[in-house]
Amino acid sequence: MKFKAMTAIAALVAAPLTAVAGPDEDNLVVNGEIEMVTTTDAPAHLQDTFDTIYSGWHFRSDETQALQMDDFENPAMVFVDQAQEMWDTVEGSEGKSCASCHEDVAESMKGVRAVYPKWNEAAGEVRTLSMQINACREDNMGADPFKYDSAQMAAMESLISVQSRGMPVNVAMDGPAAETWEQGKEIYYTRFGQLELSCASCHELNYGNMIRADHLSQGQINGFPTYRLKNAKLNTVHGRFKGCIRDTRAETFAPGSPEFVALELYVATRGNGLSVEGPSVRN
Ligand code: HEC
Ligand code: HEC
Repeated sequence: MKFKAMTAIAALVAAPLTAVAGPDEDNLVVNGEIEMVTTTDAPAHLQDTFDTIYSGWHFRSDETQALQMDDFENPAMVFVDQAQEMWDTVEGSEGKSCASCHEDVAESMKGVRAVYPKWNEAAGEVRTLSMQINACREDNMGADPFKYDSAQMAAMESLISVQSRGMPVNVAMDGPAAETWEQGKEIYYTRFGQLELSCASCHELNYGNMIRADHLSQGQINGFPTYRLKNAKLNTVHGRFKGCIRDTRAETFAPGSPEFVALELYVATRGNGLSVEGPSVRN
C-alpha cells in the first residue's frame, strides 16, 4: 500500500525547477497599507512537521500575486460589493436584514473570520462561518439558507472576511472543539482514491514541487474564499477540498458535511498565525 502510494506521488510530482522551488520571498501589502503575514513560524501542534508555514500566495506567479495587491485589480471585490447589498436587504418571514441586528458590517464582523470554525455553545457543535451565516438566515430571519458552496455564500463570506484582513488566524483546537479537530486531522492523513494520496502527500511532503503544471502550496485556507482565474468565480473552502479529493480519483464528501467541517477546522489551525487574506486570488 505504502509503496503504491509513493509511486503514485512520484509519478505526479515533477522535480522542482530551481526557478520555482519552494515559496518565493515577495511581500504582500494590499492597497499599499494592509501588511499581510504570509510566512511565519509553524503553530506548536505542527512543529514536528514544519518550521515555517506559508500562505498559498507565495506559490503563485507574479501576475496572479499582483491581482491581490490592489482591490481595484482584485476580481473578487465586485462580489464583496454585491454581498454588502445583501447585508442591507430585508429577507424572510421576520422582516429583517443582517444589518437589522449587526448594523455596520465593518464594526460588527471585525475579527470574526479569524476565529472560524468555532465552537458554538448553544448549538453544541463546531460551526464554520457558512454554517453560522445560514443559522442566522434560518433562525433569525426566517429566510432560506444559502446552498453551502453557492456564489451567494462565497460572496457573504468574502464580505465578512474582508473586515479581518491582516489579522492573524487564531482558530481554537482545544476544549469542546478538540474532538472535531481530531476527526479533521485523521481525514487529513487518510489516503484517498485509486492514487492512495492524502492531503499530506501533496501539501505536507511535496509543497514547493510542481505537480502537473501547478506549483504545490501547503494547502492553507487563510485566503478563502479565493477567486480562481481558472473558473473565474469565488471558490469556497469545501469546494476546494472537493476538487482536491476528486483529483485523487476518490469519491468525495459533500460541501457542508460533518467530515468537511472537521477537516476545515483542522486545516484552519495549520494556518494559525498567517493573516486573514480572503478574498484572495489564485490560479
Ligand atoms: C435577528 C437578529 C439577527 C439577524 C437578522 C442576523 N443575525 Fe447574525 N447573529 C445574531 C446573534 C444573536 C448572533 C450571536 C451573537 C454571538 O453570540 O456572537 C449572531 C451571530 C452572527 C455571526 C457570528 C459572530 C461571531 O462573533 O461569532 C455571524 C458571522 C453572523 N451572525 C452573520 C449574520 C449574517 C450574514 C446575517 C444576514 C444574512 C445575520 N447574521 C443576521 C443575530 C442576528
Ligand atoms: C494530488 C495532490 C493533491 C492532493 C492529494 C490534495 N491537493 Fe490540495 N491542491 C493541489 C494542487 C495542485 C493545488 C493548487 C496549487 C496549490 O495551491 O497548492 C491545491 C490547492 C489546495 C488548496 C488551496 C490553497 C490556496 O492557497 O488557495 C487547499 C486549501 C487544498 N489544496 C487543500 C487540500 C486538502 C485539505 C486535501 C486533502 C483532502 C488536499 N488539498 C489534497 C493538490 C493536491
